[in-house]
Amino acid sequence: MKYFKILLTIFGALFTLNTFAQNYFEGGDDKYKPLVGQEGKDVIWMPTSNELVAIMLKTAKVTPNDLVYDLGSGDGRIAIAAAKDFGARAIGIEFNPEMAALAQRNANRSGVGERVKIINGDIFVEDFSKATVVTMYLLPDLNISLRPTILKMKPGTRVTSHAFNMGDWEADIEIDSPSKAFYWVVPARVEGDWVISGMDPQNKTILKLSQHYQKIGGTLQIGSNSQPILNPKLDGANLSFSYIDRSKTSHLVKVAINNNEIKGVDKSSGYYDTEITGKRR
Ligand SMILES: C[S@@+](CC[C@H](N)C(=O)[O-])C[C@H]1O[C@@H](n2cnc3c(N)ncnc32)[C@H](O)[C@@H]1O
Repeated sequence: MKYFKILLTIFGALFTLNTFAQNYFEGGDDKYKPLVGQEGKDVIWMPTSNELVAIMLKTAKVTPNDLVYDLGSGDGRIAIAAAKDFGARAIGIEFNPEMAALAQRNANRSGVGERVKIINGDIFVEDFSKATVVTMYLLPDLNISLRPTILKMKPGTRVTSHAFNMGDWEADIEIDSPSKAFYWVVPARVEGDWVISGMDPQNKTILKLSQHYQKIGGTLQIGSNSQPILNPKLDGANLSFSYIDRSKTSHLVKVAINNNEIKGVDKSSGYYDTEITGKRR
């Protein structure tokens, strides 16, 4: 009886393991069958559900004009969906050579082999600075290590991460279903003092901006009058804020930032829009 019980336990354990393994082989083909949870260089392979892939790419408003990079691309599903369902070009970077080859075969089989390229490489070595959209499903510390590189990318680059955030760089959008994901827009570097022309022809105008990622604040100094800017917003390279002039008229300023120059309009009711420019001091 005792031996029968032991045999039953072993049989049960083997059965469970077998079921577990069968459940967790995913996305492979006859040449390579990756196992969910298998080791990767810096993080294991765990695929994002197709449902969440679609939501992440939709949140990032991916279009045929985009170049999407998936960092640690696994079986290629994010890159493939970006090309197949959103018409984008996509590049996946995957360290595991067998996984990278499988992902390229998956892309070819999906009919988007021309628009999807899988690079067998390391996300900390490969250059992804040309991406207009970056996607990832990594780990919190890897996101933080990548953060300085991402923040140096072109302002307006969209970034979405499955499961993990970017530390104190707060997300613009949090996705909660079917699982957690985050979305950011790379902000332009706007911190500093800007000398503005066109706002008030009689008075020197200085815009002083402080910045914590996309969150900004500051003051507008026109002649000797200084006031906090109202409702400031930074969306990639686009900055907007309001201010009140000496005759108590409200103005809405919308400018685009290009390195050390800004250009845009100052709108106020009852007046023509005024073109304004500015240089970082
Ligand atoms: C959690 S999976 C995500 C796969 C895919 N992005 C998805 O969301 O379905 C992470 C992938 O990153 C790969 N990886 C780990 N470290 C890497 C590195 N340093 N460079 C490139 N790929 C890496 C792993 O092999 C694995 O396929």
